[in-house]
Amino acid sequence: MSGSLQRASSNHRLLEVAQRVAPAGVALTLFDGIRDLPHFDPDIEAGGDVPAPVVAWRRALSGSDALLIASPEYGHSLPGALKNSIDWVIGSGELERKVVGITAAVPIAERGRLGLAALAGTLRAVRARLVGGAPIARGPDFERHVTELVAALVHEAELPGD
Ligand SMILES: Cc1cc2nc3c(=O)[nH]c(=O)nc-3n(C[C@H](O)[C@H](O)[C@H](O)COP(=O)(O)O)c2cc1C
Repeated sequence: MSGSLQRASSNHRLLEVAQRVAPAGVALTLFDGIRDLPHFDPDIEAGGDVPAPVVAWRRALSGSDALLIASPEYGHSLPGALKNSIDWVIGSGELERKVVGITAAVPIAERGRLGLAALAGTLRAVRARLVGGAPIARGPDFERHVTELVAALVHEAELPGD
């Protein structure tokens, strides 16, 4: 999933490349539902009436062997919408010890690192098994770096495409 909600997102494009280079036997599905999630509110959770977008998000996670997140850095951190999506599954557990690959599509390699560090910190709160963590700069080596990240994710998740 992409941490960016904008239509012309470079992180969304990175995920499309990841889909294309995924090895045979591995299906990479784009999840675009974080835009529909309400702000996390423990009272909603406690009330037991879980909103449909939250159910969809939790099901998408439970039904997958691993998660790949490509996200921009906003204000030296991770985007609020992405943080909100993680907050919704901290208590319910779908990310617990999950294999999660993280990266950021950036114009130059120096960008995006603070956002990824913040994202990694949040994911460590659920003991996610992190893969990658470096930004990927647009340019001639872009596809190769995405391919290497997907391969590392597949390997860590011990999927048949490895
Ligand atoms: C509100 C806002 C805050 C941003 N803050 C940062 C930042 O702190 N550091 C950074 O390197 N880039 C920052 N950027 C640039 C984005 O990370 C960059 O445009 C990114 O490529 C957007 O990803 P996308 O194309 O997938 O939407 C910011 C952009 C916006 C709109």
